[in-house]
Amino acid sequence: MSSDANLNNVTLEQIVSLCKRRGFVYQSAEIYSGLNGVYDFGPLGTQLKQNIKNAWTKALNTGEQDVVFMDGAILGAQAVWQASGHADNFSDPLVDCQNCKKRFRADDINLEKPCPSCGIKKWTDIRQFKLMFETNLGAVSDNANIAYLRPETAQSIFINFKNVMSSTKVKIPFGIAQIGKAFRNEITPKQFLFRMREFEQMEMEFFCQEKDANNFFETWVEKRLNFYKKIGLDMSKIRTRVHEKDELAHYSKNCTDVEYNFPFGWKELEGIAYRGNFDLSQHSKFSGKDLSVFDDETKESYMPHVVECSVGVDRLFLTILFDAYTQDTVEGETRVSLRLHPSIAPVTAAILPLSKNLSENSIKIYENLKQKNFKVQHDESGSIGKRYRRQDEIGTPVCITYDFDSLNDNQVTIRDRDSLKQERISIDQIENYLNNILNK
Ligand code: GAP
Repeated sequence: MSSDANLNNVTLEQIVSLCKRRGFVYQSAEIYSGLNGVYDFGPLGTQLKQNIKNAWTKALNTGEQDVVFMDGAILGAQAVWQASGHADNFSDPLVDCQNCKKRFRADDINLEKPCPSCGIKKWTDIRQFKLMFETNLGAVSDNANIAYLRPETAQSIFINFKNVMSSTKVKIPFGIAQIGKAFRNEITPKQFLFRMREFEQMEMEFFCQEKDANNFFETWVEKRLNFYKKIGLDMSKIRTRVHEKDELAHYSKNCTDVEYNFPFGWKELEGIAYRGNFDLSQHSKFSGKDLSVFDDETKESYMPHVVECSVGVDRLFLTILFDAYTQDTVEGETRVSLRLHPSIAPVTAAILPLSKNLSENSIKIYENLKQKNFKVQHDESGSIGKRYRRQDEIGTPVCITYDFDSLNDNQVTIRDRDSLKQERISIDQIENYLNNILNK
């Protein structure tokens, strides 16, 4: 059997359809015609997301530098976002079509041209649209009770910087990392998980002395690229792009985006930013609490500088699906498979009895692997070919078939998703085999 892979023609529609069909992602509130820019994750999507988070966490714990973790609140005090600059600066330019009333991000469209929706050219002036979701705490809705749903997880880290330092043994340089929800009232949520209104971020703020900041910045860019390589992304579709001075965020001194070549063009996957000491200085100023650190060598206090790595879980999820989606021809039939790295795949192995009469034995193998925390499925329904296709489509790296010979020789056939190679291994070698591919 051979596989003639056609790797690059995937469309967004194919990904959306696969996600729904196989239980990765659903439009939120779909039965009520959907909530725009908001998605729910199904059983396979939840596992894929978890695997992405585990891989990210593992990549930060290389042992060279201390990185500790925290989990901050989603509701943010007004003062935090005033100090961070978001209350004043975190907005996108908005323009309306006066004819059809559709809204656009002004930087997304050409205002010299007619409205792409109705074909009439009648634009309003550009206004700034605030991206933070505002709410009120308690029963009284006045200015004093305003809170915001955080638009980035980073500020929870800055406001707890002193708490973490005084309650743990970490010393500068060190990082604080966090995975958590963030919310932005995007004017035009689009491209499925690429730009959402509710999403999850994986952020790490690395605190260091000013003199070391550029070096750490370079180190982290390299480490983050290594991470993408390790999880199996096609590195010819990854590039870095240094921000021009006029596109830097209000807090940033230097920023490099890791970009991916999506079907809709090269776009930001992750931002790596040198934030200077902007955030800690602002929070010191606004809160009146000194967030500087005492240097035992120079006997002087200084405000640490920060290098930030920030990537969206959902955006990386989408990137991984685009990267893995493959159509090829197997035995004259078109097959869809997800070439996911085994450590990312939601199911590592599927156990398939060749006939239902063999399922008592194959279930034993399945139960044993499950008990040892392998992510496995047992599937006995339909022809073996159909079962292979189902597993290929959800990215299961190997199928393990229990057949009539297995009854005598205690061996099973392992079929590789990508090469379609089949090999016989003994049942007591399955765990080793799976551990090897997981740690590849
Ligand atoms: N703390 C820095 C920060 O939040 P950002 O470039 O605005 O920087 C970082 O966001 C990452 O979060 C992006 O590179 C992207 O992966 C993800 N992200 C941002 N907005 C998003 C959205 N609306 N939907 C999905 N992911 C988003």
